[in-house]
Amino acid sequence: MIPEIKKDNGIETLYVNGEPFFALAGEIHNSSASDLDFMEKNVWPNLRGLNMNTVIVPVYWDQIEKTEGEYDFSLVQGLIEQARDNNMKLVLLWFGLWKNGESMYVPGWMKKDTETYFRVKKVNGESINTISPLCEKAVEKDAAAFKRLMRFLKAFDSEKNTVIIIQVENEIGLLGTACDYSDAGKDEFAKAVPSELLEKLNKKSVEDNSWQAIFNNDAEEAFMAYHFAKAVETITASGRNEYPLPCYANAWLKQYPWYAGSYPSGGPVVQMHDIWKVTAPSLFTLAPDIYVSYVPDIMDEYHYEGNPLFIPEVRKDAVTATYCLYAFGKHNAICYSPFGIEELAMDPDSIDRPPMAVMMALNIDPTAFDIAGSKDYLAKAYQLINEIKQLLLKYRGTEHLQSFVKHSENDFGTLLRFENYNLQVAYAPREKFKPVGGGMVFELEPDKFLLVGTNCNFTFMPSASENCKVGVLEYEEGNFREGKWIKNRVLNGDESMAIGLGAMPECKLIEVYKY
Ligand code: DGJ
Repeated sequence: MIPEIKKDNGIETLYVNGEPFFALAGEIHNSSASDLDFMEKNVWPNLRGLNMNTVIVPVYWDQIEKTEGEYDFSLVQGLIEQARDNNMKLVLLWFGLWKNGESMYVPGWMKKDTETYFRVKKVNGESINTISPLCEKAVEKDAAAFKRLMRFLKAFDSEKNTVIIIQVENEIGLLGTACDYSDAGKDEFAKAVPSELLEKLNKKSVEDNSWQAIFNNDAEEAFMAYHFAKAVETITASGRNEYPLPCYANAWLKQYPWYAGSYPSGGPVVQMHDIWKVTAPSLFTLAPDIYVSYVPDIMDEYHYEGNPLFIPEVRKDAVTATYCLYAFGKHNAICYSPFGIEELAMDPDSIDRPPMAVMMALNIDPTAFDIAGSKDYLAKAYQLINEIKQLLLKYRGTEHLQSFVKHSENDFGTLLRFENYNLQVAYAPREKFKPVGGGMVFELEPDKFLLVGTNCNFTFMPSASENCKVGVLEYEEGNFREGKWIKNRVLNGDESMAIGLGAMPECKLIEVYKY
């Protein structure tokens, strides 16, 4: 049974072998998957103990089609076999025409033929290392190679379903220019916005249908978004015709300094989703790569009806454990995946970080790479998600499950309203190398609650008009095993005076009453 996205109680959910599947994942570094021995020695052993069920790995076009028209899938086959040996599912990243705004993974024969496979030009005529999405011949070649990859996956993997999802390209867009000023780019930009796009966006203006008139300040970005989305649709549809695995595209976020070209112009940032959605309908979602400090705000933005939350890359400092709980508790995530996951098992001081100048140039928050403590915190968060999976499936989308997170330094807590009680949640002050306040509360019965999360305290209160107090009947720590609560200590004494969750993700069950 091929993996698919379908609705479970109205919520878009990934099904693998006919069962809902939450991808508790990690993305490996770009080059790790180019050498199976390296994977054996330096990647698979490092993933043990993280409680992951999925690894996100690249597939490189230049390694698959070294000679034009001749395909070699031995590396992909080896990765699938290794994943099976390690009891993991795979999300494959198709590093085809575009990766981080450039064309670094296209085969050599294409790189060198700059005449046929023309590049994007800046306004001054300078070529950049990005093949133009207006180059139909290049898009056709990518679509042909992607089709062959999917044909291979169908033949080799359609019984075991180790590969569950495909990302098409990576962080598409143009860096250093908002628009493609090649001859083809200039000619197209001078034309009207295609009427089909105007109709789908409900934007038709009879007087002037130029990109400038329709999209104003965003004209160049919108033009590139349309052409990148069109190319990605051609590529995705060609592959899914062979083997219809769910496919998505990922975005380098729109962020400081906020102008197109400082982040990749034309990529699937949320501001361009309307264009991407109507132009690339073969994608099931548009995913954010989140390294900024305001991770929860990005999740809030990128999850909406028709765009389930899939996070292929996210920061990997200790806060990631809390954000993972929020992704599944609040946003019904399909996948959560810190980047460079194989490093979590390593000594934090031995990690290669981009030099500070590069981080500043790319606007990367250096603390996103502080991995002290992360492995244990993330492993426990993944363990908890696994343990409470049946509860999540039962309560998602109802008022009996509420999730919360410390959004910023100035966010001190929140108030959750349940049927019988109001629940004040106070976030602990942020500490270096520790998760932040966040988690979820399940109202299992009107007086019985499961608290799951990190670094917060809870005060149960009657609703405003009630003249009474709330006391603790039973307060337990424990775990879920096969859907059943297994209690450890009972905390009805001192601990019940400050009901809370610590830095290590945990679960507590509490029954309260009114007096
Ligand atoms: C985002 C890209 O999508 C990844 O492939 C990788 O280059 C990371 N950035 C590095 O931080």
